[in-house]
Amino acid sequence: GIWRLATAEDAVTLEVTGNDLMQFSTKELKVKSGQKVTLKLKHTGLLTKAAMGHNVVILQAGVVMAGFATKCMTAAATDYLPEDEETKKQILAATKMLGGGEETEITFTAPAAGEYAFLCTFPGHFAIMNGKLIVE
Ligand code: CU
Repeated sequence: GIWRLATAEDAVTLEVTGNDLMQFSTKELKVKSGQKVTLKLKHTGLLTKAAMGHNVVILQAGVVMAGFATKCMTAAATDYLPEDEETKKQILAATKMLGGGEETEITFTAPAAGEYAFLCTFPGHFAIMNGKLIVE
C-alpha cells in the first residue's frame, strides 16, 4: 500500500443547530469517505429537553427511518434512543439529547461512499428534523 501522513484534509468539522421550532439548520451534510468527522450540535432554543429535545442520529445504510423513529418513541428512559444491541447496529453515530442552550459534539470516521439518513429521535420530530449525510 501507499503510506502518507494524516493531514488537515483528513478531518472535517460540521455544525448543526436545532431550534424551538423543531428545525435543524441543514438537511444535508457532506464528507469524504475515511475523513475524521467532528459533528457539533447546538440547541439554540430555550425550551427544555423534556419539551423540545434534539439529537442527531445518523443511521447505517438501509435502515428505514420511520421504523427506527417509531421504536425510539418508547425509549424515554434513555432519551429516546434504545440501547439494545440491535439498535446499536443500526446507528452510525449519535449525539446525546439536548435541551435549549446546550451543545455537544461527537467524532466518527466517515464510512463508505453513499447516503446515510440522519434524524432527531425525540417523539414526533423526525418527520421534519431529518436529512442526509452524503459521503463522497
Ligand atoms: Cu428534535
